[in-house]
Amino acid sequence: MTEGLSPNLQHLETSATIAISAEAKRRKAAGEDVIDLGAGEPDFPTPPIPADAGIRAIKDGKTHYSANEGILEVRAAAATHLSLLSGGRPVNADHIVVSNGSKQSLFNACFTLFGPGDVVAIPSPAWVSYPQIVHLARARPVMIAGDPEWSLKASVKDLERMLPGASGLILCSPCNPTGAVYTHAEIRAIAQWAKAKKVWVIADEIYRRIHYGTGPAPSFLDLPDDLLEQVVLITGVSKTYAMTGWRIGFALAPAKIANAMAALQSHTTTGANHPAQFAAAAALGDERVEQDVNRMVGEFRKRRDIVVARFRQDLPGVEFVDPLGAFYFFFRVDSFGKITGTDFCTRLITQSGVALVPGAAFGDDRWVSGNAETRLTRSMELRQEGFPLCLSAHVREAPFSSFRAFRPDPSRLRVDSRQHRRRICDGYHASIHQIPSNRTRLGDRTCYSP
Ligand SMILES: Cc1ncc(COP(=O)(O)O)c(C=O)c1O
Repeated sequence: MTEGLSPNLQHLETSATIAISAEAKRRKAAGEDVIDLGAGEPDFPTPPIPADAGIRAIKDGKTHYSANEGILEVRAAAATHLSLLSGGRPVNADHIVVSNGSKQSLFNACFTLFGPGDVVAIPSPAWVSYPQIVHLARARPVMIAGDPEWSLKASVKDLERMLPGASGLILCSPCNPTGAVYTHAEIRAIAQWAKAKKVWVIADEIYRRIHYGTGPAPSFLDLPDDLLEQVVLITGVSKTYAMTGWRIGFALAPAKIANAMAALQSHTTTGANHPAQFAAAAALGDERVEQDVNRMVGEFRKRRDIVVARFRQDLPGVEFVDPLGAFYFFFRVDSFGKITGTDFCTRLITQSGVALVPGAAFGDDRWVSGNAETRLTRSMELRQEGFPLCLSAHVREAPFSSFRAFRPDPSRLRVDSRQHRRRICDGYHASIHQIPSNRTRLGDRTCYSP
């Protein structure tokens, strides 16, 4: 797609997730009954407190350029908020840069830290934009396959084995597209490794509040200062506060990097949307909004439980990552026979009007991802039937009949003796489709996380 364009764009591909959503919208506009499980956003409205703050800001004339790095109100609110999420640790508002969505924060961070000759490790499956953003910085993204026995997470051993000379690492937890959550011990081990190797870590924690365990998901900010010297933390209001369209994201970085990122965006977007920054400040700074967040996360959790239960009940043997955070559901389709995620999704949208994202978008086309936690109950039909039942109903029709009524082919299930041994050693008795999320992997040692 980049023929005749600048070499800056030589690796550019359009976002597969956005492409799926666009296709779903196109079909809807043409009158088709489409259920879009491809989009990465909550299906709730923005809570009234930030929405009203945004409207007030416009009426009060906050409609001109703001400071490049963002207005003090929102940087202070973000610093306090991040501090509270991590047990009151100090967070310096001066080290926070506000951008037009955390996607821009990620771009700023990569463009500031990496360049030609740099290699950036990205545990895979990974969110579609990471490799693209690294390419745009003229650095080289290297995908590190996550371990299927650890919810497709990567350990220090995986990173070390695959990439001894990396300059950077982009880590997403809770993870899009798997919903896996790195434990505190895993984050600490990765931070220690990165410090020892002088690797910059970009920690994408945009889904931190959407966590199905106790409290917010573990964070790099739970670590001591000496482990954060080469860490840029990314967050934003899009997912937690249902504010994807307001376009406000944050980067928290060491002073020198924060200043450089602000200078960079002074030449690209000048700064973040001014009135939206007031809306974000209200979202982060008003306790009443936290109740809205708890309600939304509670609802995501209910939907997640439905999807997980139905997969276990109706599709035994189909592997999936047991999601502990975010709002995605990642399951494996190649156990149904010779089918790729792309074929699966193409057939599903054509025959059933259900839009999912093929795993190819995230680096592994044996899998498929769906935004099950947010979109599942949008349709009453799906509410009653359950996501997997909806799938299996359609799968029973030709040409999915080749899947033998959605029963996996046992010879294609990945049960190997190593896996069995580990399960027995760990006292872990889950069936094949329950990929454990709550264990911690430190090198070769395995232990249960608290
Ligand atoms: C992992 C991850 N990081 C960052 C973003 C960007 O979010 P935004 O630019 O809306 O803040 C997304 C959006 O889908 C995401 O899934």
